[in-house]
Amino acid sequence: MNRQDFPILSREVYGRPLVYLDNAATTQKPRCVIDAMTDEYLNVNANVHRGVHYLSQQATDLHEQARETVRRFINARSTSEVIFTRGTTESINLVASTFSQAFLREGDEVILTEMEHHSNIVPWQLEQMRASFGERRATLSHGTGDTLRARVPFVVKVCPITDEGRLDMEAFQRLFTPRTRLVSCTAVSNVLGTANPVSDIVRIAHAHDVPVLIDAAQAAPHMPLDVQALDCDFLAFSGHKIYGPTGIGVLYGKESWLDRLPPYMGGGEMIGTVSFEHTTFNSLPYKFEAGTPDYVASTGLARALDYVSAIGMEQIAAYEKALTSYAREQLLQIPGMRIFGPSDDAVVSFLVGDIHHFDLGTLLDRLGIAVRTGHHCAEPLMHRLGIEGTVRASFALYNTREEVDALVAGIDRVRSMF
Ligand SMILES: Cc1ncc(COP(=O)(O)O)c(C=O)c1O
Repeated sequence: MNRQDFPILSREVYGRPLVYLDNAATTQKPRCVIDAMTDEYLNVNANVHRGVHYLSQQATDLHEQARETVRRFINARSTSEVIFTRGTTESINLVASTFSQAFLREGDEVILTEMEHHSNIVPWQLEQMRASFGERRATLSHGTGDTLRARVPFVVKVCPITDEGRLDMEAFQRLFTPRTRLVSCTAVSNVLGTANPVSDIVRIAHAHDVPVLIDAAQAAPHMPLDVQALDCDFLAFSGHKIYGPTGIGVLYGKESWLDRLPPYMGGGEMIGTVSFEHTTFNSLPYKFEAGTPDYVASTGLARALDYVSAIGMEQIAAYEKALTSYAREQLLQIPGMRIFGPSDDAVVSFLVGDIHHFDLGTLLDRLGIAVRTGHHCAEPLMHRLGIEGTVRASFALYNTREEVDALVAGIDRVRSMF
């Protein structure tokens, strides 16, 4: 599908055609994204929101149009609900930091799941650590518009997974108590390819009056997203995993929540007025966007979203689902093949016999096949599976059955060497 739009895919590695199957880590960029960003640097470049001059206004228009493109892509109600961040990681850190300050009291509970990426585990642990060390004394009496409250010790509860690699939804329901304040979970596992029942998760959580943060890093590139239909309270994704540039991502938040959260970082742009005695903060979404944003990356992201929207997210989803099923079928023909998880969405994680994942990945690389090996930033999940790591093949809209065949042939070749 549209392979010719991606210049890098025609290069060779080690004298062989590149078979790029590491798309869950990052996707390749279509020419239109590269061209849009090059054009902005060549012809428009100026800092946004600050200048009265022509270029600054043009750059600001592009940046704010990009926000509107993101709004449309996820069907947010307003651009006030679309915050530009550096990526999913920063988006989740933002919520972990500000939500715990604003809403968590001692003994309150946050529910995560066993299949989370480290970026949806460690931010919560950092908040717990800050609560334990010192910042309890840090309640500010500074005359800011918002009160910054001290962090207090809260509890992280973890929803287990089944042996099939799906969330144990009965256990999930049992985790709720009157102290539950937030659910934060991934829409799609970057290891198992499990597409979680996010609508059910939101419905169950809301029945307990608990808001939900969805990590859509692995969902946004592969399926249509509609935050109003989903009714999630926060949603995070990264530009570089959806054919856009690195260094830009999105945090969606319902205005009613964002309004009640304190700022995350301080600096230019996020303020109303500043004095040494009294500082006020900007309106949404700028309250959460301190400093010069990556306004060229936002243009690139918008172009990438236009690109996938023109193909159609439904079409991309159908194509990738068929390709992933084909990959599973073909891989399962290989003796000693163990696939972890259901691979609902564009990710197949596996081990072959007793070949170490690192050896398999390295030898595949010499055949021009790029896969990822290791724990995939999901060490707790590896502990649950009782393994150290896997080989992961992950697909994008430009991958083909021929590339799956090359992967299978490559694995057969490596097997013959052991
Ligand atoms: C499920 C999931 N969440 C979060 C992230 C972090 O994304 P980023 O590194 O772009 O912030 C990843 C990256 O692989 C991921 O797969």
